[in-house]
Amino acid sequence: MNYLPVTDESLLQAADIIKNGGIAVFPTETVYGLGADAFNPQAIARVFEVKGRPRFDPLIIHIAAAETLEIVADLSVLDKEVRNKLFLLAENVWPGPLSIVLPKNEKIPGIATAGLSTAAIRFPDHEAAQKLISLSTGAIAAPSANPFGSLSPTRAEHVRDSLGGKVDIILDGGSTRIGLESTVLDIADGSFKILRPGGTPKEFIESLIGKLTENREQRTKNSEQFPTQSEQTCFSTPDSQLPTPHLISPGQLKSHYAPKTPLFVLTKEEIINKSYENSCVFLFFDGLTRNIWRKAQNQSDLLSENSRIVVLSEAGQVLEAAFGLFDVLHELDNGGFSRIYAQFAPSEGLGEAINDRLLRASHPHS
Ligand code: TXA
Ligand code: MG
Repeated sequence: MNYLPVTDESLLQAADIIKNGGIAVFPTETVYGLGADAFNPQAIARVFEVKGRPRFDPLIIHIAAAETLEIVADLSVLDKEVRNKLFLLAENVWPGPLSIVLPKNEKIPGIATAGLSTAAIRFPDHEAAQKLISLSTGAIAAPSANPFGSLSPTRAEHVRDSLGGKVDIILDGGSTRIGLESTVLDIADGSFKILRPGGTPKEFIESLIGKLTENREQRTKNSEQFPTQSEQTCFSTPDSQLPTPHLISPGQLKSHYAPKTPLFVLTKEEIINKSYENSCVFLFFDGLTRNIWRKAQNQSDLLSENSRIVVLSEAGQVLEAAFGLFDVLHELDNGGFSRIYAQFAPSEGLGEAINDRLLRASHPHS
């Protein structure tokens, strides 16, 4: 495996690997992606295998030019109003952290979309990602570059430490700018609903195309069944025998983006009233809440060294908190703590995506 900084040469090398059916890990503005040629079913099958991802969980197709949209999606079946809204979104948000679910073009193999007739398309706002896509085949199918169900990678080291031995090349582009995955918006059936909150806030989407349909499945923590072992390992199933997809967006799986350390999510009031415990992490959203909590604690307890107090954003800014979330969770997860108590973010802007990830990362008894 090659582990190289992003340069013109390493981008060419990675593009060659992709053109020849290999797998390249690359940075985007959200998280690192595990990329293969979107038109090559064998290469895509390997992505599922490397990630340990169930075949019913579709991949995002990444493009780097507006014209490629027609090659990966079938826009002819969309009615005029939906097309207009699509173009409004594409013009105002792309390149950026928004994946739009559209009817798929037949050129995209069924394995990429888990047998669905739709594909999530995204134009990432990252120079290296765009160059890699353009230098290879114009479309890269890529999930986040983490083992299925675990925390998403915001640094190349995270990928090296988890999947390093299984991929052909890792391009190191430093920390990702946003630190949370893209928002997944379904417009394929004209209903306009968010399947996964992410880097593009709902409020911004609504300011462009009007009110979205409420997605009732989202946030119903514990309502989805985690895939069984046999579902998770059906990698050799040919496309024609794919199981009927029963999840709308498996980002909705209840236990996803999960650290190994049990994590509990608490409201501001709950965390303020939570007494200090040994070997635990108190992960505050803002400095003010941490200060109030501190005052309420027995100060001599706080001197113990085997617990940590972490603040996502001193000033309580959701952008900063989102940027640091996965990074902090990766670090804390290696700290040998017995529990993480995390505070909910305010549910506006990226706060919604932060809370979604915290809930999915949380312990079933949270
Ligand atoms: O920011 C991101 O979105 C990152 C970077 C690498 O682009 N990618 C990412 O991919 O997070 P992944 O595979 O970890 O998550 C993709 C999400 C999954 O929840 C998947 O179920 C959903 O998008 N998805 C993909 N295609 C879909 C489709 N056709 N219909 C509904 N949901 C889809
Ligand atoms: Mg993922």
